[in-house]
Amino acid sequence: MCGIIGSTGEAASLNDLVEGLARLEYRGYDSAGVAVVRADGTLERIRAVDGTASLKLLAELTKDKSDGYIAGLGHTRWATHGRVTTDNAHPHFDCSGGVGVVHNGIVENFRELKSELEKGGHVFTSQTDTEVIAHLLEAYLKEGLSLKEAVTTSMSRLRGAMSFVAIDASDPKVLVATKRMAPLIVGSGQGINFVASDIPAILGKADCFYQVGDDQVVVVSPDGNRLFDLFGKAVELSEISVEWDLEAAARGGYQDFMSKEIFEQPSAVRDTLLGRVNEQGEIALDEMRLDPEELRRINKIFIVGCGTSYHAGMVAKYAIEHWTRLPVELDISSEFRYRDPVLDQQTLVIGVSQSGETLDTIAAMKEATMLGAKTLVVSNVMGSSMARAADAVLYTRAGPEIGVAATKTHTAQISALLVLALYLAQVRRSMYASEISEIYSEMFRLPEKIEQVLTSDAAIEEVAQSMVGVKRFYFIGRHVGYPVALEGALKLKEISYLPAEGYPAGELKHGPIAMIDSDAVVFGIVTRTRLWEKTISNVEEVRVRGAKIVLVANEGDTESIALGDAIFEVPQTHPLLAPVLDVIPLQLFAYHLALSLGNDVDRPRNLAKTVTVE
Ligand code: AGP
Repeated sequence: MCGIIGSTGEAASLNDLVEGLARLEYRGYDSAGVAVVRADGTLERIRAVDGTASLKLLAELTKDKSDGYIAGLGHTRWATHGRVTTDNAHPHFDCSGGVGVVHNGIVENFRELKSELEKGGHVFTSQTDTEVIAHLLEAYLKEGLSLKEAVTTSMSRLRGAMSFVAIDASDPKVLVATKRMAPLIVGSGQGINFVASDIPAILGKADCFYQVGDDQVVVVSPDGNRLFDLFGKAVELSEISVEWDLEAAARGGYQDFMSKEIFEQPSAVRDTLLGRVNEQGEIALDEMRLDPEELRRINKIFIVGCGTSYHAGMVAKYAIEHWTRLPVELDISSEFRYRDPVLDQQTLVIGVSQSGETLDTIAAMKEATMLGAKTLVVSNVMGSSMARAADAVLYTRAGPEIGVAATKTHTAQISALLVLALYLAQVRRSMYASEISEIYSEMFRLPEKIEQVLTSDAAIEEVAQSMVGVKRFYFIGRHVGYPVALEGALKLKEISYLPAEGYPAGELKHGPIAMIDSDAVVFGIVTRTRLWEKTISNVEEVRVRGAKIVLVANEGDTESIALGDAIFEVPQTHPLLAPVLDVIPLQLFAYHLALSLGNDVDRPRNLAKTVTVE
């Protein structure tokens, strides 16, 4: 997740470029930078690294530098490869300093390209994957290719989901951009043409907006925008109709951040999975900072987290135990350190925290370090307090989450933790390589399956509206369906303010079933996992006591479907991956019910996005 922008034309200005970047801030704010071609043909770079104030600093640094602007590129960074430093901030240049690039996404094969380029004499000045693009372009330009041809040829050599914009000071008015499975649009206005990650960045400045397709190359120049396929054949631009005002645009056209973030889950999961397999098809978690030998010595794992992060950790417990046969204990962070946990140097404590700043989890991790355990954090925020303090870190790449109720970071957390579980199995040789790669391939199908689940939005909205007035909700599931039930209940509580409880379905008969009557609505997670039959029996037990039943079931599973008053269908997947899909209809249900009740879904009462008190 990064934001990219470029502009050219007689009306183009550095101020507009920086303003556009500010509107892309939601895509990341570890650093910000611009590269501008001046009338004298030089490419000037200005970069700012000041945490969340990076864009403000960039605005100050560029304030008096508008004169002589011909064309330029801008970037706001959400770091993935290379720490948050000035050297790693974009734009990146080739050896000559005449070619500049801004990039969003990951170049998965950057290591092999970098070593090839270094052998050819290219000198790198950053630790980023992006810089290989600038040097690749330089190499192709030297062979006599035009910038458009160089971008096209480079793209065919780059693996991974990404978009980038390039500029060559020797042809100063022209920008060339391309994309694959990452957002990119172009826009045109009076005397100005743009390329950007999304429409809000250039809204009010461009009059028309156009799509760029995967593996297409767009040439943006003062005379207009021209689109080409990977073979260099011209493609007609297709216009996007835009009816947003600026405020709506900050939310990407969505009514609120929560719905935007729910719908961003395919890319949140995809980005989290990308770049974590090496050329040999093995899982490679290079950024993690714990070497395989250390991981082989581990004989026990604790997982700690709060709220939604705790639920992601619960899914991981099932996967790690099943795939590695290592014992896993799970704790709510605020309980962990006060219960005198038994751990030593051979224990790994995994902290799960979207923000990396939750005080309860920070304290739990500190306690673990004090007791001599190794610590690993799964966080969405690069350089967060927990990420800095832990021995190891695994980042989710969901992009900034604004809505207080966590959605996309939850499915990204589960995805990252499942990758970690498979990595542990690989390192400890508790699974065959073929089994691991089969599951990993299935994980890569999740983003598409999430898209499929999201198409049920309108149907789920209807069910939610029909339940305005219901006073009590219960969510039941077994095995990995249990954390899904807990998360479904938490989402509903957070934004609808209604009583909602999650239970292991088999536990109902030991007490909670006494609450069931015809006023209750029970959600059953009955996708086809190992305990499907038993869960179905538990659903029957509440159905015969008059509860209204809503089921999360697999598509076409007529046996399950017959038992529900309403059904939320999800595609089938590997049983241990199912929570990534099963939780999404429950997020949508909570969202629509809360809206129907007139609640502010982005800022629910009494809650804060990051809880920094004990
Ligand atoms: C999720 O919807 C909640 N806002 C909350 O439970 C959250 O997951 C919890 O506070 C933990 O936050 P963290 O992931 O940033 O540590």
